[in-house]
Parts: sequence; structure tokens; C-alpha cells
Amino acid sequence: MLFKNLRDEIDATLARDPAARSRVEVVLCYPGFQALLFHRAAHWLWQRHWHLCGRFVSHLGRVLTGIEIHPAAQIGKRLFIDHGMGVVIGETTEIGDDCTLYDGVTLGGTRPQKVQQSQKRHPTIGNDVIIGAGAKVLGPFKVGDHARIGAAAVVLKEVPEGATMVGNPARQVVRRAAPGEARPAFDPYGVTGDIPDPIARPLNALLDEVASLRARVAELERSREQTPAAEEPPPTAEAVRRRAARARP
Ligand SMILES: CC(C)(COP(=O)(O)OP(=O)(O)OC[C@H]1O[C@@H](n2cnc3c(N)ncnc32)[C@H](O)[C@@H]1OP(=O)(O)O)[C@@H](O)C(=O)NCCC(=O)NCCS
Repeated sequence: MLFKNLRDEIDATLARDPAARSRVEVVLCYPGFQALLFHRAAHWLWQRHWHLCGRFVSHLGRVLTGIEIHPAAQIGKRLFIDHGMGVVIGETTEIGDDCTLYDGVTLGGTRPQKVQQSQKRHPTIGNDVIIGAGAKVLGPFKVGDHARIGAAAVVLKEVPEGATMVGNPARQVVRRAAPGEARPAFDPYGVTGDIPDPIARPLNALLDEVASLRARVAELERSREQTPAAEEPPPTAEAVRRRAARARP
């Protein structure tokens, strides 16, 4: 079916973007998801050799979302394109399942004059690959499963499975981790599942404050009840003189 897996794709957006609140919001406000809808239609037309129609639908998607996907590109399930503006996905690109692309990513070719149009010119991206904002992956090579491409990296050759590549030209880096520490989950916004709702946090702090104030008031009331009422001190000579002056007609 043309638009199967749509629900999975919406859920992938909800799972990977902490700002997404509901499925309706994803459908209405996420250009990455909308670009995928246009691509599914354009790819369907392209496969049936309605090339101009495919290109036109792809162009409409680009105008509306700022994401350019060639209708011949092969895209797997649950691709999440975050922000999206400026993403370019070339004709012979293949993308596996569960990948994430940020804005400004180019999956392109190099030296277009040296290859024929039918030849593979663009990269093949494995499964669960994350490509950071502004990264350029250029050429007909493979990016292995679970690889991470850093923001603004320029990748010009094959990327091993699970590798992290940064810089221009991209080089492989190893995350400095304590011995035995597992590779941490990718966390583009510094938000993890442990962080509570930002509205719940101040509310919880207020509730704690109210509870501690209540305890303090109860303690003061108890100590007031236990202390015998202090006798009034005898009036000073000055106070007696003033009172007498006030009483005089
Ligand atoms: C590449 C990336 C995934 C690496 O994350 P990581 O595995 O946690 O790696 P670390 O942060 O430990 O970095 C390892 C090394 O690479 C360097 N590095 C990380 N990202 C880099 C980047 N984009 N460009 C250049 N160097 C980078 C670090 O400085 C560190 O170098 P050092 O060992 O010399 O100090 C991450 O830094 C990145 O670029 N993510 C993209 C996020 C993004 O595009 N967000 C968009 C939100 S809108």
C-alpha cells in the first residue's frame, strides 16, 4: 500500500523529538513527516515510469517543506527528518530503517560530470544511522548500521558500522567513556527519559514548600500551646504618668 507504515513514522517522530506532543501535531506541523508523504507518492509514480509526475510531486514537497528528495531515492521505515529545511536526498540514495536526519543534511554525489546518470552516485545509509545538522555525505559508499555522523561533518568515504564521524574531511572519533561504560543513547537535545515534565518540576517544588510550611506552623502551634502564658510585666513609672495624664479632664 502507498502510505502503509504511516502510524509507525508518526510514532517515530514522537519518540525522537521531545517537543512533539501528539500525532495530530506531527501530521500538521512536522515538515519531515510531510516530506515523507510527498516522497511516498512521488516514488510510487516514478516506479510506474511517470517520471515527470513523480518529479512534480517531489517538487511540490520541496516547495512546501524545504526538503528535497529525488523520487527515485529508496527510503526505509521510520525515517525521522528533524526540522528538515535544506535536506537534499539524491537520486540513487538508499536509506535503511530507523534513521534520523537533521536540517541541512545532503546525501549527494561528487564529481557529477564523471558518472552516468544511471550509475550509483549517492550513499547507501544503513539502519539506525543518525546524521547531524549540516552534514554532507557525498559519494556512492556505505554508511554502516548504527553509525553517527556529527553536525557539519563532510563524509567522503565508507563509514564502518557503529562508527562516529566528525569534521571535514570526516574522521572517526571514539567517545571518551569510563572503562565498562556502555555507549550512551544519542541525545541531541540533552533531554533524557529521566527528566520530568518542565511544568511538573516547579509544581512539585511548590508542593514541597507548602508541606514544609504546614509542618512549621503545626510545630509553632504545638509549642505555643505547651508554653504557659507569660505574665504581663508591671507598667513602668513613665507609663503610669502618661495614663494618669490621659485620664485627667
Ligand atoms: C557526532 C556526535 C553524534 C558525537 O556524539 P558522541 O558520540 O557523544 O561523542 P562526544 O561528544 O564524546 O565527542 C567525541 C569527540 O568528537 C568531537 N566532536 C563531537 N561532535 C563533533 C562535531 N560535530 N564536529 C567536530 N567534532 C565533534 C568532540 O569534541 C570529541 O572530541 P575530543 O575527544 O577531541 O574531545 C555529536 O557530537 C553530534 O554532532 N551530534 C549531532 C547533533 C545535531 O545535529 N543536532 C541537531 C539538533 S537541531
